[in-house]
Amino acid sequence: MFRTTRRLSLGLLLATATALPAMAEGEVNIYSSRHYDTDERLYSDFTDATGITVNRIEGKADELIARMEAEGVNSPADLLITVDASRTWRADQKGLFQPVESGILDARIPEYLRHPDGHWFGFSQRARIFFYDKERVQNPPQTYADLADPRFEGQICMRSSTNVYSQTLLASIIAHDGQDGAIEWADGLKNNLARAPQGGDTDQIRGVVSGECDIAVSNTYYFSRAIRVPVDGVSEAIDNIGWIFPNQSTTGAHMNISSAGVAAHAPNRENAVKFLEYLAGDQAQQYFSAGNDEYPGVAGVPLSPSVAALGYFRADTLNLAKIAENTPEAQKIYNAVGFE
Ligand SMILES: [Fe+2]
Repeated sequence: MFRTTRRLSLGLLLATATALPAMAEGEVNIYSSRHYDTDERLYSDFTDATGITVNRIEGKADELIARMEAEGVNSPADLLITVDASRTWRADQKGLFQPVESGILDARIPEYLRHPDGHWFGFSQRARIFFYDKERVQNPPQTYADLADPRFEGQICMRSSTNVYSQTLLASIIAHDGQDGAIEWADGLKNNLARAPQGGDTDQIRGVVSGECDIAVSNTYYFSRAIRVPVDGVSEAIDNIGWIFPNQSTTGAHMNISSAGVAAHAPNRENAVKFLEYLAGDQAQQYFSAGNDEYPGVAGVPLSPSVAALGYFRADTLNLAKIAENTPEAQKIYNAVGFE
């Protein structure tokens, strides 16, 4: 799926960006794997403020990454917006970004949410936390390490190890506890599963409601969404569900990001940097994060009510580039211990 604010066909977008470079001064071409309605407002506000036309191609992150690789130096992409640090890291490993130096971005985006050399910047964040049945679970796990404790045998639901959220979580455990600690954790957690990994994050929370699981591992926004709008199998029982932000007295809760970086061969580099700086502004931060019930990347920006409902917590501030580089190792560990 792709959309552009000027309703260009894909062919026209490429023609505009490559064959007519003179027209390209007033444009920015965004490849995005985000597709939330509130993002529309982001793009139109940017155009209103700067006069720069936003052309968009939307698709799955891996498809957009493959496409940029295939297009090479002729790629019309100025920016790549993706979700999850491990996907962003993969794009960076393929050389798809270029460094950006911006005083605005450095001042606004916390150090742990951006690449050390400015290859990408996290603009919204989500925590990977525990949701549990308040009646059945009297002493919920308080740390990621607790998930591997035999006292939770047969109680935990988590999605598959092939999912990027699972990989980035284990990547963070490798970063904090080393390889041996990570192997032990993955093995212990596998033994505590209530069922073979299946479905998305919402399905893990649904499992708590249905009674199949006592404890679910999920990103915060899936629960916040069920507060904001009716989500089948969750919202009707939302008062029975408690949540724990893990590792509050140690490393803090594991965070992940929606991020954007300037493409290595961006034909409209200056406009791309302007767009990133715009995304770091208060108003854009609110749209960007609220669109998916996420936490803003920039400190002090008001949270949407469904997000604020979860309360304050301490976030893991280890740099996400540092965490994401462990994702290939994380997949190996899951495979080695037989975590599906
Ligand atoms: Fe998600």
